[in-house]
Order: sequence, then C-alpha cells, then structure tokens
Amino acid sequence: MLFGAGAPGWPVVLTDGPVVLRPYRRSDARPWAAVRRANENWLSQWEPTPYGSWHELNSPAAFRAVHADLRRSARVGAAMPFAVCYEGRLVGQLTLGNIVRRAFCSAYAGYWVDSSVAGRGVIPTALALSVDHAFRVGGLHRIEVNIRPENKASRRVVVKLGFREEAYHPRYLHIDGAWRDHLGYALTAEDVTAEGGLLARWHRLRAPA
Ligand SMILES: CC(C)(COP(=O)(O)OP(=O)(O)OC[C@H]1O[C@@H](n2cnc3c(N)ncnc32)[C@H](O)[C@@H]1OP(=O)(O)O)[C@@H](O)C(=O)NCCC(=O)NCCS
Repeated sequence: MLFGAGAPGWPVVLTDGPVVLRPYRRSDARPWAAVRRANENWLSQWEPTPYGSWHELNSPAAFRAVHADLRRSARVGAAMPFAVCYEGRLVGQLTLGNIVRRAFCSAYAGYWVDSSVAGRGVIPTALALSVDHAFRVGGLHRIEVNIRPENKASRRVVVKLGFREEAYHPRYLHIDGAWRDHLGYALTAEDVTAEGGLLARWHRLRAPA
C-alpha cells in the first residue's frame, strides 16, 4: 500500500491477485477512452443521462476533464476514485463518492467493468478491497450501493458480498434518459469486522468446497 498526506486513505494502491485499484494517471486517457467507447451499449443503459454524444464524452480529451474533477474530489476527501486494472490492463472504475463524514462517515460506491472481462469477479474483488480500505484507513463506517432493479449483474455483486437490501428509492437517479427507481444496499463496518473484512469473506465464498 502507498500512502500520502491529505485526505484519509488517499492516494492508495490496493491489490488482490490480478486485480489492482489505483488512482488514475494522465497516461490513462487513451486506454480509458478506448474501453469506454468500445462499451457504449454495455454501459450507457446504467449510467447518468449524457449531456452530449457518447463518443465525445468518452474521448481522450474528455478524460482530462474527468480526471481533473476526480482528483479535486479526492484531494478534499469527498471521493476515492479508483481505476480498476486486471492483468495489467485498465478495465474499469470503482468510485467511493459522496463521502460525508461527521456523524455519517458514509460513501456511495459506483462501478463498471469492460464487458470482455465480465463474470470473472473483478468488481466484487474491487468492491471488497475498497470497502475494507474505507473502513480500516479511510475513516468510513458505511458503504451504500444503489442499483436499478433491472440490473441483475450489479445486484448479484452486492448480494454475493452480503450487502443488506435496505431501501427502495422511487425515481432516484436520472439514468439513460429518465428518472429511474433504485434499490439501496448497504454494509457497515460491524457487518464484516468479525470475519476479517469483506475481502476475506469474498475469498471464502470463492474457495472451492
Ligand atoms: C455490474 C458489473 C460491474 C459486474 O461486474 P463483474 O466483475 O462482471 O461481476 P461478477 O463477475 O461478479 O459478475 C456478476 C454477474 O454478472 C453476470 N455475468 C457473468 N458473466 C457475464 C458475462 N460474461 N457478461 C455479462 N454478465 C455476466 C452474472 O449474473 C454474474 O453473477 P453470478 O456470479 O451470480 O453468475 C458489470 O456487469 C458491469 O460493468 N455492468 C455494466 C455497468 C453497470 O451495471 N454498473 C453498475 C451500475 S449500479
């Protein structure tokens, strides 16, 4: 793990086997644009309604604005935006965002992965790594994930990891052109501490019987 001064727990690099979470770099512009552009149909149905064409919003030039915005949020402790790498290649993103401290100490997790590596447990591993880090080092107590009921793959991620289904939010976020209902899932630190953390739980679940 690498640590620096500034927001608690950021910047950091987290690793589990072939899955590496790290801050974005300027040199990610081209690989980020390539993977985002190749996955338009796969991603756009689950993402905030775009304010322009997918191609333009996911260009190397657009990455520079996205990167600057994410860096600013991370610097003030409002987000931990991880590039997700698998076998040495940038394949996705996992962000702990909307971090609120004081009596709440909570964040929302959002994620996506390249369809060419879907189904290999990349995002559950990334989520488990980031949640353990947020609880142990980042000073957070609760992580929430909000998912459209139709998004079966994303719901499987949180169900497998043992997140609690806590809420139904009608017309919660503007996704793919309309206000969409979401299911709210959450975990608090107490849910995983006795098991040695969420990654330890995930490893046990994946171990052959
Ligand atoms: C949701 C998502 C991040 C899951 O990531 P992942 O690393 O593939 O997660 P997993 O490997 O645990 O697979 C989750 C589920 O996807 C489905 N799945 C498996 N292989 C798949 C494949 N090749 N293609 C599509 N879906 C697949 C299965 O239902 C799997 O659940 P299972 O383990 O019970 O079989 C990924 O599907 C994705 O990026 N989707 C588009 C963006 C998105 O929905 N983001 C989340 C918004 S809330």
